[in-house]
Amino acid sequence: MTIAPESFTAHVDPARIQRDWEALAAFTAPELPYTRKAFSIPYKEAREWLAERMRDAGLQVRVDAASNLIGRLPGERDDGPVLMAGSHIDTVEAGGRFDGIVGVLGALEAARALQEAGVVLLHPLEIVDFTCEEPTLTGMTPLGSRIMAGALTSNDLIGVLTPLDESLADAINALGGDSAHVEQARLAAGDIAAYLELHIEQGPVLERANVPIGVVTAIAARCSCFITLDGQADHAGATLIPDRRDALAGAAEVVLALEQIASDSELIEETVGTVGWMRLFPNMVNIIPGHVEFRAEVRSTDARMLETAKSRLQAVVEETATRRGLQFTLQWEDMEQPVTIPDRLQSILVQACQTLGLPFMQLPSRATHDAARLASIAPVGMLFIPCKEGKSHVPEEWAELDHIVQGVHTLSYALVLLDQSL
Ligand code: GLV
Ligand code: MN
Ligand code: MN
Repeated sequence: MTIAPESFTAHVDPARIQRDWEALAAFTAPELPYTRKAFSIPYKEAREWLAERMRDAGLQVRVDAASNLIGRLPGERDDGPVLMAGSHIDTVEAGGRFDGIVGVLGALEAARALQEAGVVLLHPLEIVDFTCEEPTLTGMTPLGSRIMAGALTSNDLIGVLTPLDESLADAINALGGDSAHVEQARLAAGDIAAYLELHIEQGPVLERANVPIGVVTAIAARCSCFITLDGQADHAGATLIPDRRDALAGAAEVVLALEQIASDSELIEETVGTVGWMRLFPNMVNIIPGHVEFRAEVRSTDARMLETAKSRLQAVVEETATRRGLQFTLQWEDMEQPVTIPDRLQSILVQACQTLGLPFMQLPSRATHDAARLASIAPVGMLFIPCKEGKSHVPEEWAELDHIVQGVHTLSYALVLLDQSL
C-alpha cells in the first residue's frame, strides 16, 4: 500500500513539539542551565515526564535492564524485528536544549503523527531514550546503547561511580533497570530492522549552505586517553628554571602538540584532537605543579587517520616526558571505530527528502551518537538539522522550530519507507 507523506506529515504539530522541548528544558540543575547529567535528579524527573508523554501518545512504555526508556507502538507483525528511533536526553555540563533531545522528541512526535493519520506499520516502532549517552562516565558511554549492542556486561559496571559519585549499578536500578542482569537488555543482529536518529548537526555545514536536512554518511570515532605526568613540586620562587621538573609545562606542550598533530595537512580534513579536562596538583599559585592528570581526545571519520593521530599523540607524550625528566602514564579509555552508514539507509533518507521536496546534503557526523554503537547489531541511519552558528554542548545551542519540524517529517516518512521495504 502506498502511503502519501502528506497524510501523516500534516499531523506533525509544531506547537506540540515546542511545548515538549520547553517542558524538557525546564528539567535542569537550576544554577547551571542546561545541565541534566545522567542519573541526576533533573534527569530522573525528566525521565518520568517523558514516560508520561509516551503513555499519552498511546505507546507501551517499559524500561529495559540497562535503564533505557522505551515506548512501543505495536505493528501488524508484532513479534518480528522492530523499527527503532531515538537518541538521548542527558546533557553535558551547561549543555544545550537540543543535542539528543530533538531525536527523542522528534521520534515521539513521528509516532503520534503516524497514529493520528491512521497509519499502521507492519513493524513495531520503538522510541528509545538511551541512558547516559554523554561521556560523563569514562570508558563506558554511550552506556545504554552500548549495553543494548552487547558491548558491556553487568560485571563491567561493578565498582563504577556516576558523575555524582553514586554506584552506577544503584543509579541504573533507581531508573528502573536491573544492573545485575543488564545482559537482558542486549539485542542481537536481526532484532532491529533499522535504527534512525534525528540530531542537530553540532557543526556549521548545513547552516552555512542554507540546507535544512543532512543525510549522514559516516560517524567519526571518538578515542580518549588518560595521561599523567609526574615531576617535582617545589618552591615557585626559589627553584631556578634549569632545576625544575614542571609537570604542567610538560602537559602544556602535549596540548599544543595535539593541536599540531590534528592540523597536519594529511589529517586536518577528517581529524580533530582536544584536551578538555585537566587537574593539577597541588594547584597553588606559588608551587611548581608536581603532578598533572588530563584526558586527550582524538576523533576521525577515517580509521587510518585515527591510528596515525593516536600513535603521534602517544609519541609526543613519551618524547616530552623523557626530555623534561617527567614520569608518565598513558591509558586509552575509549576506543571507538568510525562507522559508515549503509548505502541502503542513506538512499531511503535521500528518497524521503526528495519526495518531501526538502533540500538536503550528505555529510559526515563529527560528533558521536547512540547510532554508532547500535551499528554493530543493526542498520543505522542519521538525519541532521542545522543548529545556530554550529554551536553545541553550550547553553546557546539553538535549532529553529521549522527545521525540527522538517526533520520530523523526514524521519516519519523514512520510517514508513523502511517499514515497507524491509
Ligand atoms: C557526544 O556528544 C560527543 O561528544 O560527540
Ligand atoms: Mn547527542
Ligand atoms: Mn552531546
